[in-house]
Amino acid sequence: MQDALETRYAQAAAELDAIGDGDGLRAWEAATLGKKGWLTEALRAIGSIAPEGRAAYGKRVNEMKQALTAAYEARETLVREQALAHDLETNQIDVTLPGRPRPTGGIHPSTQTLRDFYDIWADMGFQVYRSRDVEDDDTNFTLLNIPPHHPARDMQDTFYTTDPNIILRTHTSPGQIRSMRDLGENGTQAIRVILPGMCYRYEQITTRSEIQFHQVEGIAVGRNIRMTDLKGTIAAFAQRMFGEGAQVRFRASYFPFTEPSMEVDVECFLCGGDGCRVCKYSGWLEIAGSGMIHPTVLRNGGYDPSVWSGFAFGMGPERITMLKHGIEDIRYFWGNDLRFLEQF
Ligand code: PHE
Repeated sequence: MQDALETRYAQAAAELDAIGDGDGLRAWEAATLGKKGWLTEALRAIGSIAPEGRAAYGKRVNEMKQALTAAYEARETLVREQALAHDLETNQIDVTLPGRPRPTGGIHPSTQTLRDFYDIWADMGFQVYRSRDVEDDDTNFTLLNIPPHHPARDMQDTFYTTDPNIILRTHTSPGQIRSMRDLGENGTQAIRVILPGMCYRYEQITTRSEIQFHQVEGIAVGRNIRMTDLKGTIAAFAQRMFGEGAQVRFRASYFPFTEPSMEVDVECFLCGGDGCRVCKYSGWLEIAGSGMIHPTVLRNGGYDPSVWSGFAFGMGPERITMLKHGIEDIRYFWGNDLRFLEQF
């Protein structure tokens, strides 16, 4: 019996020395020191040993238990350390490698300019009003004093849908009608809004004209709004947008929905008015169409033109962005060429 135990003991110690992984260790532990392990059973058997040999037997089995427990713990530590060392060696991280740069998105130049617009106009009390891209013919033209067959319709070639009354807006001016009707409370409330958005024109695409582009319309309707208000407001905008010293001038023009109508120029900020390629040697850059809202348009918006008056203007953010950054081709804006976009 004792001899068999000694053999078992020597065997178990040898087995343990050959184990190299956690699974092997757990199996060895269960078979040896576990509740049903042979050594545990040998300990339990003490009571059945003849009294003369019992003390020696018990002493020896306890020695075995202590030795194997200590050996097991040592082996476990060794196996864990070996696994860690192996892991460190195979999953080496080279901390001297340069990091991988993560490309970050940017804000589209048109969006940047639009945000400048929003800030400047908000400071002057203009709310943003979002009108629709898909318009009806009436609102885009007729209610703006451009009846069917009026030659002014040719100024803006139109994208039609299969329903000839439904079109893509050719300018943001139909938003004048919608915001007056929506916010004016039947012509009883003054309003002051800007109307940013995309416009669409069925045109030849060139370096200077796209079939889609932004406009920012602005309108102010009140009881006592005069042309000096329009001029002062636009001048204040230009100074915020182009710098303190920005000079503006107003040129008589024609739009069916304003009377009188004016185009707004800002002194060329590239050459200071001396004349250069960008301003075509005129010293001035056109930045807006504007005017006093035509009485017919006020009426169509719900206001009595004998009591109410207002001004309106329309600007092209892409054009202004092109002037500011010296961009010579409007097609870059919707070309999605990252080499262009990453510059902003
Ligand atoms: N809607 C005009 C255009 O697209 C611009 C404009 C707006 C002119 C408001 C006067 C007043 O050319």
